Parts: sequence; C-alpha cells; structure tokens
Amino acid sequence: MKKFSVVIAGGGSTYTPGIVMMLLDNLDRFPIKTLKLYDNDAERQNELGEALDILLKEKEPSIEFSYTTDPEEAFTGMDFCFAHIRVGKYEMREQDEKIPLKHGVIGQETCGPGGIAYGMRSIGPMIEMIDLMEKYAPDCWMLNYSNPAAIIAEACRVLRPDARVLNICDMPVGTLRRMSQIVDKEPKDLEVRYFGLNHFGWWTSVKDKDGHEYLPQIRDYVAENGYLTQIEVDTQHMDPSWQETHKKAKDLLAVDPRFLPNTYLKYYFYPDYEVRQADANYTRANEVMDGREKSVFSTARDIIERGTAEGSNFSIGSHATFIVDLARAIAFNTHERMLMIVENNGAIANFDDNAMVEVPCIIGSDGPEVLSQGNIPEFERALMYQQVTVEKLAVEAYIEGSYQKFWQALTLSKTVPSAEVAKNLLDDLIEANQKYWPQFN
Ligand code: NAD
Ligand code: G6P
Ligand code: MN
Repeated sequence: MKKFSVVIAGGGSTYTPGIVMMLLDNLDRFPIKTLKLYDNDAERQNELGEALDILLKEKEPSIEFSYTTDPEEAFTGMDFCFAHIRVGKYEMREQDEKIPLKHGVIGQETCGPGGIAYGMRSIGPMIEMIDLMEKYAPDCWMLNYSNPAAIIAEACRVLRPDARVLNICDMPVGTLRRMSQIVDKEPKDLEVRYFGLNHFGWWTSVKDKDGHEYLPQIRDYVAENGYLTQIEVDTQHMDPSWQETHKKAKDLLAVDPRFLPNTYLKYYFYPDYEVRQADANYTRANEVMDGREKSVFSTARDIIERGTAEGSNFSIGSHATFIVDLARAIAFNTHERMLMIVENNGAIANFDDNAMVEVPCIIGSDGPEVLSQGNIPEFERALMYQQVTVEKLAVEAYIEGSYQKFWQALTLSKTVPSAEVAKNLLDDLIEANQKYWPQFN
C-alpha cells in the first residue's frame, strides 16, 4: 500500500496528540511515510513536537517526523494537510464568549456573535494557508476542521472555489456514535440522511444496511434523555458542560419531533436559557484551558522531562478516525458516505444552490458528490435561510471591509435581539480584535 505524507496545520493544537495517536492506530488502513506539524506559534508547537518526537521514535520509528513554522518546509511533498488552526487562540475564544454575554447574548465559539467574530479573524489566515499549500504542494488535499467551519467554507466557496479543501465537522460523528449505542449497533452499521448547515442541522433517517429505520426508537430515547448515553463512546464531548448539551437535545426535539436535532441548535432555540445558565466570568474557553489544554501540555512536558513516552500517554482521539476515513476516500477512491460541508447545488431541492450546506456525500478521488435530500419543511428552511445569510454577510463584510454588512450580519443572527444590541456588541468586538481587523479600525 502507498505510504502517505501528512502535515497537521495547527501543530500546537490540543487535538494534535490525539490525532497522532489515532493515526498510529490506523497505520494498517492509512500508512504514513512522513508526518509534519506546522504552526505559526513556535513555542506552543515545540512542546508538543518534542514530546511526539520521543513518542514516535519509540512507537513507530519508520515515520519521518518533524515540526516547523516554515510553510515551505511544512507543505512541500505533502499529500494531505489536516488543518485545525485557531486564529487568536484561547485568549480570543474567551473574548468571543465573554463579550456577547456582557450584552445578554449567548457567548459561543462558533454560534452567534462569537462565531462571527471568530470567522472574521479566521478567513484571512485560512486563505493564506490554502495559497501556501497550493504553492508548495499543488496536489495536496486540505481536510479542514478549523472553525468556524460554516464561515470558512463560505469564504473558500467565494474566494478559492477550485482549491482542494474539504470542510468537515465532528459533532454529527460524535452524536451518531451516541445513536448507535442507543440502538445497540456499531456506527459503521448505520447510514443517515441529514440536512442543514454546519452546527445547524437535522437527521431525517438513521437506517442499518438492511434498511431498518431506527429514527422512531432513537426519538423515543432522545425525548426522555436527550443524547445522553451511559458508556463513553463520544470521547471528545464528555465534560460536564457537554453532558448538559447532550441532555438539552430533548428540548430541541420537542420543537420539531419529526427529526433528530444537532446539539448546536440549542443556541438558536433556547438562547435566553443558555444565557441564564452561563457564567460570564468562567466560560467554556476557561474550562478548556483548565482542562484539555493543561492536561495535554503537562503530558507533553512529562514525556520530555523523562525522555520517554512509556507510562504516560496521550489519549487517542478515537472518534477522529473519520479524518482517516476521509483521507482514505480521497486516496483510495473508497466512495465512503460522510456528512460534508459543501455547496448545495440542489442537494436540498428547495434551498439556494450557492449555500454551503451540511449533507451526506459520497467521497472519492475527485472529492465529494452530494446526495439529494429532497425538499425540507418551511420551519427548518426559514431558520437555515436566516443563518446562512448571516454567514454570507460575514464573508462579504470581510471581503469589502464593510462595517455596515458586519452590523447586518449580527443584527440578522437569531441570537441577537436588536440592531442596537448588535451595534454595541460589534463596537466591543472591534475593539477586542484590533490586531486582527485593521480594516475596521
Ligand atoms: P488550539 O488553540 O489548542 O490550537 C490551535 C493552534 O493553531 C495553535 O497552536 C495556534 O498557534 C495555531 N494557529 C493559529 N493560527 C495559525 C495560522 N495562521 N497558521 C498556523 N497555525 C495557526 O485550539 P484547539 O482547541 O485545539 O482547536 C483547534 C481547532 O480545531 C479550532 O479551530 C477548533 O474550533 C477546531 N475544531 C473543530 C472541530 C470540528 O468539528 N470542525 C472539532 C474540534 C476542533
Ligand atoms: C464540537 C464541534 C467543534 C467544536 C468543538 C468544541 O466537536 O463540532 O466544531 O470546536 O465541539 O469543543 P470544546 O471542547 O473545545 O468546547
Ligand atoms: Mn464542528
């Protein structure tokens, strides 16, 4: 089998060790020749790089491993770039979450004003990275899960329509794992139909390979428990605040019991509740910094100090195997069926062709082919149209440097109560993002 060369962009990410462990676990399916880390923060990446170097030398010395901040070195010769950068890092995630809360609006990484702000920071560096990849590795595919994926995907559609970039999200993967547990199946046994936008969608069918429909059974379970399950299957979403999110799916289902909701809909259906629940002084960014970030970097330091990874290991990003499934689909033309964020082009029959939607696709060597999901009901269609227009306005605001469109994007967001609140919020966001948004200063 061919061996592949992979660069992980955002090498200093808290997810990097989990992805590397997952790659090690999948070498029989996806052999690796070269593995590189690339980041623009040398200090942050060095700690993980040094620890992973020790670990890889012990576990798989045949892999040529290195880490760099030089894009030419990072991309040259690569087949795949797994991208998970966070522009502004946790420091700015914290601002994205806390500034809206000051105005009584939900503060969230990818939804509402925080998500729009994160998008406005991310478009430029993501496009720059795509250009670097194309310059140094013209045949390389970028499997991007950097957030906010919806806005990044729209920016790619407009600014780099021909680039080999595939945008994906792990939330439906994690939730499908929970569903498979509810019906006592393996995730791979289940085939879904789904429509929506990123972090904004619904399952309309969950069948096994024989065609048995499990949606009613899952619905009965979710009506009682949300997606809360007993055994740890959805490893990435286990913290107490995530458990609350899985539970809340019960109230999302109640709004339209025909379909199974994506957990992120809670920010649009119950924003007032979410604001009441939030601690404006200690948000998810703080939880992650005190939890995942501390634990990953202290494991790295421990490995470096002891000079061995024996006995202290990074945990495996097990549900991140979908990234290998996607890479394999491209590399081996496997025609894997996966949810992807793609241009609609008729997949949802009564929705705009040029909207970036999240739907099931068949993936082969040429990328994804969308599967038709037919017509969707007016309720979901109207919600999606509002949200996709927010995302489009954000991208237009970025390209044109338009304060007006930025304000409109915030005003249109279902999470923001008025144009006045939107404007006050925007002015605070601009102040906090001075370094990132010279066009608005
Ligand atoms: P993190 O801050 O730990 O890591 C991000 C890394 O990106 C940092 O080391 C940072 O220095 C680096 N970076 C920032 N800008 C860069 C640039 N222009 N070029 C190169 N490197 C750059 O963040 P994290 O919590 O580990 O998350 C990483 C990303 O993955 C985030 O965007 C997060 O939202 C995303 N994510 C997405 C999904 C999904 O479902 N799509 C799932 C999990 C995480
Ligand atoms: C899910 C979403 C990602 C998001 C992540 C945040 O996995 O699909 O898009 O980045 O949650 O998780 P965190 O643990 O950082 O709050
Ligand atoms: Mn996601």
